[in-house]
Parts: sequence; structure tokens; C-alpha cells
Amino acid sequence: MMKEGTYNKNVVVVIAAVAATGGLLFGFDTGVISGAIPFFQQNFQLSNSMIENITTAGLLGAVIGAAFTGRLSDIFGRKKTILTAAVIFVVGAVWSGWAPNAHVLMYARLFIGLAIGISSFSVPLYIAEISPSKIRGRLVSLFQLLITIGILVSYLSDLAFANNNDVESWRPMLYAGVVPGLILLIGILFLPETPRWLISKGREEEGRRILKRIEEPEIVEKSIQQIKTEIEKDKERPNFSEVFRPWLRNALIIAVGIMFVQQFVGINTVIYYSPKIFMIAGFEGARAGIWGSVSVGVVNVLFTILSLFLIDKIGRRKLYFIGLSGIIISLLALGLVFALHTQLGDTGKWLAIVFVWIYIAFFAISLGPLGWLIISEVFPLRIRGIGTSIGSLSNWFFNGLVAFTFFKIIKLFTVHGTGIITQEKLYDAATNSFVTKAVDNGNPAGAFWFYAAIGILAIIWGYFYLPETKGVSLEKIEEHWRQGKKPRDLKE
Ligand code: BGC
Repeated sequence: MMKEGTYNKNVVVVIAAVAATGGLLFGFDTGVISGAIPFFQQNFQLSNSMIENITTAGLLGAVIGAAFTGRLSDIFGRKKTILTAAVIFVVGAVWSGWAPNAHVLMYARLFIGLAIGISSFSVPLYIAEISPSKIRGRLVSLFQLLITIGILVSYLSDLAFANNNDVESWRPMLYAGVVPGLILLIGILFLPETPRWLISKGREEEGRRILKRIEEPEIVEKSIQQIKTEIEKDKERPNFSEVFRPWLRNALIIAVGIMFVQQFVGINTVIYYSPKIFMIAGFEGARAGIWGSVSVGVVNVLFTILSLFLIDKIGRRKLYFIGLSGIIISLLALGLVFALHTQLGDTGKWLAIVFVWIYIAFFAISLGPLGWLIISEVFPLRIRGIGTSIGSLSNWFFNGLVAFTFFKIIKLFTVHGTGIITQEKLYDAATNSFVTKAVDNGNPAGAFWFYAAIGILAIIWGYFYLPETKGVSLEKIEEHWRQGKKPRDLKE
């Protein structure tokens, strides 16, 4: 029996790892653009607003992909949805690397954004439905691990391909996305559909066959019964605007809420703008800034690995509170470092980088994996596709909002006369060359304290709304909502 169990576990780990490659593409494609920008800006002689359009196009694509394909994954299945994303990733990478002008590049980024949006909800959903309850958290967190590896790989590939003497360096950076795209495309062809989706479509025998490969033998029949019971109960209910039914209000609040918290503690200000933050802190030159971000990428990956071991042991709630406390403290400290910028002198920049590492480490063991895990767990089977896509859509929306407002928030909270001045190489359209200019960056202290304040509110929210889903079967979670019970009363 013991041996059988181990064997099953290995099969699921392989299945989950292949599916999680979708996370690698998610991370790679969000990260890669930052290093490519200076090159195609010069190559196509673009204004800053065109650069913003190209970057936003990817984000817009993600929102559209997450919003409109949830229903499709309920109708056509999880596997076909991921397959579609894989095809788009490959075609999109070739298309964007090849783009002869800025407009084509913009459409290609929009297209690839679709795949990012689709994979960001369908991959965690697929993994959650195919995993045994006991290790579900760890397996879904594989998705987050691959996101972080993708971000790191994109920083490294930017470093590797960036050639100051070649304005077309951005092309190989974008082409590189073909490789993980093909891995996902070929891998997914060999993966099974999820047993839960099959059974919901009346394909019980196929579902049973797959469950036997992945679940402990003694609970296969019990799982099938539970899935069927929940499907029967779902049938009794009316079929309109299901996600917004009162008994699912908590599931909806939890999915949107966790993504709000994940994004509004400011994670992507660090992921997207860390070179800039490090330059403001006193590191000189863009290259030093990029090395700073590589170090952030490494810490992110290492602590996400640690989270794989914690999430099914310590549980979701404890990790949430531990993670958030660390995040709040490091944000407060970071703010202080920038507020005392002049007094701290050269020590300031080292303190800044250390607190960014601490911040990322706490994020990586908690909110990073938790966001994607929770949205894949809280919805009932019949609408899990739509529900998870709403969670993912919220993620992209809040992500865009934070990225779009970061520098404005810095400006808003900068006390007059405390702005930090740096010397930066900027593109000058008039002369078509880079010139060194003094830039007043404002002071990010207030912005970091603002994100810390949101973190404090998030502790209160989490106390009331975050359910402990550790070790609980997806069917039991559904039953919990049906009985109208409170999120924090859910237990193994
Ligand atoms: C978030 C991303 C973030 C990444 C950082 C993910 O869970 O959704 O927005 O960039 O973690 O590791």
C-alpha cells in the first residue's frame, strides 16, 4: 500500500510540474519586457507613451484572457484551455521577436498577454483538481515557483542578450520565450484531463481511471461519490449568474480580496522597478540596478521553494499572518531608510537592498503562492472555471493599477524638498541618442508606508475571511459554503 501511494504521488508531481510550466511563461513574459524596452525604443525611435502602450497591451491581453476564457474551461475542459494558451505563447513569442515595427509589436504583446491571462487561472485550477488534498497546496505552489523562476530567467536572459552596440538585441530576448512555450505545448499533450471535470461531464469511467493513478486507492470511490453528490446538488439550483449567488458571496470576496492584498502590498513595484529603486537608493548605473534585481529574483525563487514545504504543514492562515507581518515590518523599515536617506549616507543603499530581500522573502512564503492557491480552492466545481478566472482577472487588474500609480503615489507622498536626485541616461528623441540628465525622483518613503498601511488592514480582513483549506477536500469546502458557515470556521 505504502509503495502504491508513493508511486501515485510521483505521477501527480510530474503532471503538476509539466502544467506549472505555464507559470514559467507567465513569469518570463511579464519580466522580459523591462530589459527589452531600452533597445526597441532606440530601434524604432519610440516616445515614452508608445512604450507605455506596448507594455500595457500585454497587461490588457492578460485581463481579456483571464476574463473571457473561464467559461470555456468549464465547457471544453481544463486541458484544452491550457493547450490553447501554449499555442498562443509559441506563436506570440515568434511574432513579437519578429515584429518589423512598433504597432506590430504592440499587437503581438496583446496576443501573448491573452496566453498569460489564460494560463494564470487555468494552470492552478488544473493542478488543484488533479491533486490529492494532502499535498494540493504544495503542488499548486509549484505554479508560483515557476512564476518566480520565469521572472529570474527573464532578468538573466535580458542580461545575456543586452548588447549596447546592437539595437536589435531585444529580438533574441523575446524569441527566447519560444522554448518554454514548446515545452508546455508538447508536455500538455501527454497530460490527462482532470477527473473532476470529466465526471462533471458524465464521463465517469475516464474520471475513475485517472483518479486511480493519482489518488490513494482506498479513497477513489469515495471521491467519485463526493464529486457526484456535489454535482447533483448544483443541478438543483437555478442556472443564472451563479458566481454571484448569496451562498457563494464569501468565496467571491475571498478570491478578489486575496488578490487585492497580494498586489496592494506593492509586490510588483519591486518586481518591475527594483533597478530604479536601487538607483534611487544610491547604486550607480543601470547595470548595478539590474544586478540588484537579479539578487531579488534569486531570493524570490529560494523562499518560494521553502514555501512548498510550509504550505501544507503550517497551513494557509498562519502563513498569511506570518508573511504579512514580515512584509509590513520590512515596508516600514524601507520607508525609514528612504526618509533618513541623507543622514544614512552610503549605508542607506545597503540597508535598502537588505530590506527588499526580507520583504521578498516574506512575500514568497506567503502571499505569492497563497493568492493562486486560494482562488483555485474556494469555488464549487461547476463554476470553478469562471470563479478562478475572476480571481485571476482581479490579480491583473490590481497589478496594473499598482504599476500605473506607483510613481504617482511616490510624488503624492513626497514631502517638499526631500526628493532624491539621480543622474540617468535617458533617450533623447531630438538627437536620437542617450544623454545623461539629473532626475528628481521624489522620495519613496511615503509610498512604502502607504503599502504597509494596506498590509495592516489586510491582517484584519484575513482574520475574518481567510479560510484554512489545508488538507480539506474541494468537495468539503463546497459543502461548507452551502451550509452558510463562516470562512474562518473551515477546518480539516
Ligand atoms: C504575483 C505576481 C508577482 C509574482 C512575484 C505572483 O504571485 O501574482 O504579480 O510578480 O508573484 O513572484
